[in-house]
Amino acid sequence: MKVLVTGGAGFIGSGFVRYILRNRPEAGVINFDLLTYAGNLRNVEEVARDPRYRFVRGDIANADDVRGVFEGGGIDAVVNFAAETHVDRSIDDASPFVRTNVLGTQCLLDAAKKHGVAKFVQISTDEVYGSLGPEGAFREDSPIEPSSPYSASKAGSDHLAFSYFKTYGLPVVITRCSNNYGPYQFPEKLIPLMIMNAMDDKPLPVYGDGKNVREWIFTDEHSRAVLTALERGNPGEVYNVGSGYEMTNIDVVREILRILGKPESLIKYVKDRPGHDRRYAIDTSKIRREWNWSAEIGFSDGLAQTIEWYRTHQDWIREIRDASYLNYYERMYTRRDQTLAWSGPE
Ligand code: NAD
Ligand code: TYD
Repeated sequence: MKVLVTGGAGFIGSGFVRYILRNRPEAGVINFDLLTYAGNLRNVEEVARDPRYRFVRGDIANADDVRGVFEGGGIDAVVNFAAETHVDRSIDDASPFVRTNVLGTQCLLDAAKKHGVAKFVQISTDEVYGSLGPEGAFREDSPIEPSSPYSASKAGSDHLAFSYFKTYGLPVVITRCSNNYGPYQFPEKLIPLMIMNAMDDKPLPVYGDGKNVREWIFTDEHSRAVLTALERGNPGEVYNVGSGYEMTNIDVVREILRILGKPESLIKYVKDRPGHDRRYAIDTSKIRREWNWSAEIGFSDGLAQTIEWYRTHQDWIREIRDASYLNYYERMYTRRDQTLAWSGPE
C-alpha cells in the first residue's frame, strides 16, 4: 500500500512515517510537507535512504502542489497530519490556521476524491470537543464545541472531511487524539518547552493557576492507533484515542523538574491563555471494544524517555533555537508577563 502522509516532517507525522516503515515492510510512503517552522527533515533522517520512502515538498492548500503529488501515481491512501497546530499562535493570528487546516484539507479531499483513494484518515484532536468540567470524558458523539481558532479550524476540517464521505462516498476516517508528547516535539508545546527551559535553569512559565488538565499520550501510541485506523477504521466513523493519564499542568511541570533534579523555584506563574480549556479527557471504550486497543506506555516512563531524548539531542535543540524561535519566545512570553525575568535564551 502506498500512503501519502502529509505533515510527515512534523512531530507526530514524522513519528508515524518511522512507525509505518518499521512495522509494515510492504508499505510505501510519500511524505508531503511544506516545511513550515514546525517541519524538520532531521525528524525523518533515519528513513531518508529507505527505498520505500520519498519526500515531496509542497503545500496542502496549493491545488497545483497537491495535483502534482497525486499525478505521480499509485497513491492508495492518505493520512492527513499537516496542520498549523499551536493554540497560542492561533490566538495571535488565525489566518494560517484557516488556510492550512480548512482550505488545505478541502484541497486534499478533492484530489483524494478524484483519484479514488481507498482510505482518507483525517488526524483530528480532542480539542474539537471543547472543555470539560471536573467529571466525564469526551465520547465520539460528544458535541463539537471548539474554543480556540486552532480547534475551530480543526473542527472545520473534520466537518468537511465527513461531508465528502456523506456526499461523495469518500472513505474518510477521523481520529481524535489527546495531547501527545515524546521526542522531536517542537518546543512551543508544554512538555518540550519546560524540559528545555529547565535544562537551562530558566523560568518555567505556567499559565493561570496551573490546574488545567490534559490527557498525555506517548506519540508512538498515537501512531499505532493511526495505523489501525488506516487498516481497520470504518469509513464515516470517528475514533477517539487517549491514554487515561490525566495530569494538571503544574504536576507535569513538577515531574519534569524532579526527573531533571532542578528546583521548583524555577516555576513562574504567568498570565493565562484567553479561552483556556480547563480539562480534556478521552473515553476510549470504542477503540478498546472494536480494535482491542489500549495504551501501553505509562506517563512516568514516557516522560523519562522524552527527557532523556532532549538531554542527548542538543544538536537538534540548537538548530530549532534559531532566530525565528527566539523571536517567537520573546513576543509570546514577554507579552504574557512583563515581569518574567527571562525573554529567551542568550
Ligand atoms: P507539528 O506542528 O509538529 O507539525 C505539522 C507539520 O505540518 C509540519 O511538518 C509542517 O511543516 C506541516 N505543514 C504545515 N502546514 C502545511 C501545509 N500547508 N502543507 C503541507 N504541510 C504543512 O504538528 P503535530 O503536533 O505533529 O500535529 C500533527 C497533527 O496531529 C495535526 O493535524 C494536529 O492537529 C494533530 N494532533 C496533534 C496533537 C498534539 O498533541 N500535538 C494531538 C492531537 C492531534
Ligand atoms: P499545549 O502544549 O500548548 O497544548 P494544548 O493547549 O493544545 O493542550 O499546552 C498544554 C497545556 O499547558 C495547556 O493547558 C496550556 C499550558 N501551557 C503552559 O502553562 N505554559 C506554556 O508555556 C505552554 C506552552 C502551555
